[in-house]
Amino acid sequence: MFTSPFSRVAALRVLLALGSSSLSAIVAAPADPTTEAGEAKLTDPTVECTPYNYPAVSSALTSFPPIWEPASIVPGDMDAEEQWAAIQGGVPDIPPKGTLSGNFGGLNYPQSDPDCWWTFSQCTTPKAPGLVPDIAVMPEPQTLGYGFDDGPNCSHNAFYDYLSAQNQKATMFYIGSNVMDWPLEAQRAVTDGHEICVHTWSHHYMTSFTSEDAFAELYYSLKAIKLVTGVTPTCWRPPFGDIDDRIRSISSGMGLRTVLWKYDSDDWQFGSTPGVTSADVDNNYQKMINDADNGLFANVGTMILTHELNNYTMAEAMKYYPLLKKAFANIVPVGVGLNVSHPYAETSYTLPSFAQYVSGDAGSSSGANANNTAPIAPTTNATVTSSVAPATSSTAAQPSGTSAAAAQSESGAGSARMDLRKNIAAVICVASVLAGALLVGAH
Ligand SMILES: *[C@@H]1O[C@H](CO)[C@@H](O)[C@H](O)[C@H]1NC(C)=O
Ligand SMILES: *[C@@H]1O[C@H](CO)[C@@H](O)[C@H](O)[C@H]1NC(C)=O
Ligand SMILES: *[C@@H]1O[C@H](CO)[C@@H](O)[C@H](O)[C@H]1NC(C)=O
Ligand SMILES: *[C@@H]1O[C@H](CO)[C@@H](O)[C@H](O)[C@H]1NC(C)=O
Ligand SMILES: *[C@@H]1O[C@H](CO)[C@@H](O)[C@H](O)[C@H]1NC(C)=O
Ligand SMILES: [Zn+2]
Repeated sequence: MFTSPFSRVAALRVLLALGSSSLSAIVAAPADPTTEAGEAKLTDPTVECTPYNYPAVSSALTSFPPIWEPASIVPGDMDAEEQWAAIQGGVPDIPPKGTLSGNFGGLNYPQSDPDCWWTFSQCTTPKAPGLVPDIAVMPEPQTLGYGFDDGPNCSHNAFYDYLSAQNQKATMFYIGSNVMDWPLEAQRAVTDGHEICVHTWSHHYMTSFTSEDAFAELYYSLKAIKLVTGVTPTCWRPPFGDIDDRIRSISSGMGLRTVLWKYDSDDWQFGSTPGVTSADVDNNYQKMINDADNGLFANVGTMILTHELNNYTMAEAMKYYPLLKKAFANIVPVGVGLNVSHPYAETSYTLPSFAQYVSGDAGSSSGANANNTAPIAPTTNATVTSSVAPATSSTAAQPSGTSAAAAQSESGAGSARMDLRKNIAAVICVASVLAGALLVGAH
């Protein structure tokens, strides 16, 4: 299924023979696809997307659910069991909804939206006690919360290079399975100073999972990001926005703030949903830009849903960046827009405050290095200075056991995506025709 990584093996052997693990070689950062800095130098998307073996990941695979499969707690995982036991009691008694791929047909859900189900009503203010509202806008005026879902994409170097050249940081909502498949690419986000949030393990509709499995989707994503990058995120975005108070209570019990959005570029649908054209996606971006020009964000900023999914979505992001810069006074990572000084459980890493970021401090806000293997700049309560150093280098390159799964999963993930509005419209039909029950009101 996948191309042999022989050329990588050969290249690696040459590099090893040359002593590439010496500090000077790493600082020079050749295009050596076994370190974060080397991988970041690759420019050919085909080479970037050639699967590789990363020992820290391949030796840990048995402690994770199968990559791209809906997660459950791995048998014998005492830490997961303990964490789940600690939050389980507080989870509201709301049954799972629909299927993994978001088919809610036949579900008789009350019009009053008792569960604050975003998919149903775009509800972001929980009804169950003790839960904070989801973040869907930026509190600062004329400010865009800038983020990308579904990464890390294997061929994201051109896009991340572009962001670096613009001195622009963003929030990356990473899928745990992608992090396991592309660990060096995930490390680049931390090295570049982007903020990492969680986007679940297998990218399914979260309200469809049992509570324990929903926990596992988040738990193993956090664990994968920690294993690979050394940091533990404190934020997440539900795939398709599919969240209700049951899922909120689980994510909140795990220390994760929920981040949604206000505008939807629908960029992921180009090339996967017949009839969705690139002009449609342009129009979606343009609508938000028009609203900005018309003063809609004079008091409160906003957020748009965009993706690090493929070449098109990333190219579109680059095409629109200059236009967004014109339309908004500030473009900031979500955590910066909220003055979150410590975006991770590891307090050695800090984000600049909103005021610092917009005054230009972002330039020095590059973060801790991959997995904290390198010296981390001391916390100054301001920005962390850049400290680029080697990621843990692998010493062998073998065919990756995960690559076939990854290849399958991409198409699987693609086909699982669907247009929520169409989906809900279909649900209304099914519900009213078959069950005589009207599921939702007008949106
Ligand atoms: C990343 O983007 C490339 C280029 O569009 C695409 O071929 C690949 O399937 C994407 N997915 C992942 C997981 O990298
Ligand atoms: C990160 O650190 C942990 C604990 O020190 C270690 O088990 C893991 O292998 C490291 N991951 C990488 C990618 O080096
Ligand atoms: C898209 O793919 C082309 C051709 O492989 C490449 O030159 C370009 O840099 C890619 N764009 C992005 C945003 O990755
Ligand atoms: C962020 O901090 C600034 C300066 O202290 C303050 O004006 C602003 O209200 C804060 N924003 C949020 C969302 O807390
Ligand atoms: C950062 O702020 C905390 C709380 O205000 C303070 O205790 C600490 O000494 C500060 N650290 C530095 C390095 O300034
Ligand atoms: Zn997604």
